[in-house]
Parts: sequence; C-alpha cells; structure tokens
Amino acid sequence: MILILDFGSQTTHLIGRRLKDLGVASLIVSPKAALTAIKKHQPAGLILSGGPASVYEQAAPTIDRKIFKLGLPILGICYGWQLMAQLLGGKVVAGKKEYGPAKLTVNDFQDLFYGWPEESTVWESHGDSVVQLPPGFEMLATTPGLANSAVRQAKKQFFAVQFHPEASHTQHGKLLLENFASRICQLALKPQKLDVKAIITAIQEKVGDQLVIGAVSGGTDSTVAAALVAKAVGKQFYPVYIDSGLMRETTLIRIKQDLPKIFGTKIKVVKARKKFLQSLKGVVDPELKRKVIGKLYIDLFEAQLDKLSKRKIKFLMQGTTYADFIHSQGNKRSALIKSHHNVGGLPAKMKLRLLEPLRYFYTDQVRELGLALGLPKEAVFQSPFPGPGHAIRILGEVTAQKLKRQRLADQIVVEEIHRSNWHKQLFQYWAVLTNAQSTAIKGDGRFFGDVVAIRLVQSQDRMTADWAKLPYELLSRLSSRIVNEVPGVSRVVYDITPKPPATMEWE
Ligand code: XMP
Repeated sequence: MILILDFGSQTTHLIGRRLKDLGVASLIVSPKAALTAIKKHQPAGLILSGGPASVYEQAAPTIDRKIFKLGLPILGICYGWQLMAQLLGGKVVAGKKEYGPAKLTVNDFQDLFYGWPEESTVWESHGDSVVQLPPGFEMLATTPGLANSAVRQAKKQFFAVQFHPEASHTQHGKLLLENFASRICQLALKPQKLDVKAIITAIQEKVGDQLVIGAVSGGTDSTVAAALVAKAVGKQFYPVYIDSGLMRETTLIRIKQDLPKIFGTKIKVVKARKKFLQSLKGVVDPELKRKVIGKLYIDLFEAQLDKLSKRKIKFLMQGTTYADFIHSQGNKRSALIKSHHNVGGLPAKMKLRLLEPLRYFYTDQVRELGLALGLPKEAVFQSPFPGPGHAIRILGEVTAQKLKRQRLADQIVVEEIHRSNWHKQLFQYWAVLTNAQSTAIKGDGRFFGDVVAIRLVQSQDRMTADWAKLPYELLSRLSSRIVNEVPGVSRVVYDITPKPPATMEWE
C-alpha cells in the first residue's frame, strides 16, 4: 500500500481515490502519525499531499526528517514538495502565484512521466515555489511560470510535482500516480468494480427492522441513495420531499411523477415555500443562510416524524456524497470553505440517526451506482443542484422579488443551454443575482437595475472546475433574453474564473 501524509489540501482525498481506482490500497494519515503508521502498515511508498500553509510560517505542519532515511520512494505534491525541498536543503519563497490551468512541458519520460506527451495541461494551486533545489534533485518538467514544476532525486527515488496530479483537470494526472505506484513503488494494480450488493447488505445490516425516513431532493445523489435504501429495506422506507421553493420547478414535477414509479412508493410532498422565505428574512451571511435552511429542513422532517409513528422511525436518509462531506468538516485539517447545508448545517442534537449510503462515493461513482440500479439516464446524468438551491445564488438577503428574478434568469439559462445541447458538456449551469446594481437605458429612459451573472462550469468531481468556452452567439442570446425578459435586470456578465481559486457557487 501507499501511505498518504495529509497536510490539509482540499484534494488529498482525491489522491486516495485515484489510487483506489487503480487498484492500489492507500491510507491517509496525519503527518504526526507518519512514523507509527509506516511501522504498522509497511507501505511501498509515501505521498506528501498539498496543503494551505507556507513552509516558512512558524506553525506550518512539518514532518520528522527520519522519513527520508527509510529507503522508501516518496512523491511530494505542492506543499508536500515545498516541505521536502526545505527539509532536504533547498529554498522556498513566496513566488509567482499559479492558480488553475498551466501548460506543462516534460523533458524526461523515464519513470514518473512514462507515457506522457511532451506538452499537456496541469492544474496548479500555489503561492510559494521552490527556487533552489535540494542536493541531488534534477528537473523533469516545467511550466511557463516555474522552472521546477516536477523533479527527481534518482538515487533515493524521491519525486515531486508542484501541480496537482490528483485533480481531474490535470490531463494525465492519473497516469502519473499510476507510474508512481507501479513503476516506482513496484505495486501491482488490481482495479475493483463497485459492489452494489455489498452496499445494499450494509444498509440492511445497519437499519435492521427499524424505519427510515428519506430526504429526497430529486437530484442524482438523493435519488440514487433513495433507490439503494428502497431496494434494501422496501416498505420500511418513507421518502419525503420538502418543497422549499428554492429548487428548480422541474424538480417538483420529477418528484410527483417520475420517482414514485422508480421507488415503487409515493413521495410525501411537504409544502413549505412561505416558511423558508420567512426564515431567510434579514439573513445575509452565506454560512448563516445554509444553517437557517438546514435547520428548518430538519425541523420540517421532525414534524413529519411526529405525524408518522414517532417511536419507530430511527434513521434519516440523506444523499450526502464524499465531496459534500470533505468540503464541510470531514477533514479537520482542510481549511473550511463552505458548510454545505446537508452536512455542516445540521443541528448538533438531531433526534434521528443519519443514513448516508453515498458518504464515501464521488459523483461519477454515484452515477455508476445509479445505472447499476437501473435508474433512468435522465435521473442519473442530470446536473447537480445545491441543497440550499436558489438561496445561495441570490447574493445578500433572499426576498420574494429577488427569488422570482433569479428563478426567471436561471430558467432562461437552463432553456438555452439545453436547446443548444451544451448541457452534455457542462457540469452545472445557472444564473446568479449578484446584488450589484448598474445603469442601463431601456427605451429612452435611464434605469438602475440588477446585475445577473451567468456561471457555466465544466468539472468531473466538483473539486476543480473551469468555465465553459461558450460560443459568443449563445452568450449573446443568453444576455439579451435575460435583460429583456427578466424585470429589473440591467446587465448580464459572464463569470470566467476557474476553481481554484473561485468556488463554483458565488456564496
Ligand atoms: P463550490 O461552490 O464549493 O461548489 O465550489 C462545489 C459543488 O458543491 C455545490 N454546493 C452545495 N451543495 N449544499 C449543497 O448541497 C451547499 O451548501 C452547497 N454549496 C455548494 C455546488 O453547486 C457545486 O456542485
């Protein structure tokens, strides 16, 4: 196996995920536990992850230098590389910042870059760089901003990259990790298939003869989670949909018409549009918004519970995936980015136990599971929609009028993207009501109205994303339809920021 030492990067878990896909066992451990873990697990190699700190800061996480004397191959990634460089006698400074895509030119194809093309795109996220290599290190690849984008210390089998091979936007990242595992650490690759039966059995064992209430949203995650639970415990499962008014209108149609057929049971719809708007009154802070929505959501579920046989229902099913979990609080070493309402916003004293069958799966694995369960392709491949929905796409306070405007603009985006068939190439597409105002001239009059932003992103696993290079014609149609058809809108802008640095949602 390979031991991954976690310095707090948002994408550390993706390293483990990629290795798992390759059929290589791995374990993520804290750097402090490294020596003990090495003794216990006898790994064939080590990976030092990225992280948000700078190695020259006082409290920056570090590692016992003994790990460099164990004769184990090591791959340093981003911060992991900078730390290696510093501890082995190199020099790290606050250098040229690189965020998002960069062109990598490879000069050495022997081991780490075996099978790579000379030029490809890699994903970067760093503010510091190594300006002086430690003794014995040589350069393997460069980017325009960085002479030492990848390096090797051949004698000791130490390797390092400044970019993130685990990010799906790094074109051949998986091959780099494969080369490290198989060519450098000499591990055999044994890819495994997702085991639907084992997941269903695990649900049955956890639930026993208890009852489950299911939070369905109509989205892929909760639909797949609910289908798993429905298959596992049948009549012990009560799917409920809370109609917050913060979802797209097509969702309600799907909940009422399509899903009952798939689940073999009716879905209880709780009408709560007014309640959500009332509870969001005066709420401006994005984190508070998520918490307010999360709390009301759970309260409404508990009210449902009171209506059903209270004593018997023990579990609340949610479609939380590993990406939701890791972005919230799962990994204490990662900096908190956003608390997703279906995880971070949960009140501490929840009366129900959580049943989250997708907690350890990523979106593409969830889709694979959905297809294996026989769900229709439209349900499995739909674009994801955040739990707090339109509320986090309306900057500032959510009011009935702003919600109406954002919904209308969003509907236009959805219509045009589907009409042009671009939805197949996009991960998510939506309109943001930005809370900025600007001047327009409508008819002959001056008009000061809302600025709407369009966000169209391409991504595989939500951890990294890029903005879509939409044809100007389509952008132009989107712009003119939104300013013409949505009352109160004066201007439309297109968001051209990749993730990192920008998150996908504006709030
Ligand atoms: P960010 O904005 O963090 O988004 O780059 C990454 C993915 O997560 C979704 N997202 C959410 N989903 N509750 C959710 O269920 C939330 O509070 C939330 N915030 C962001 C976002 O749509 C994207 O797919």
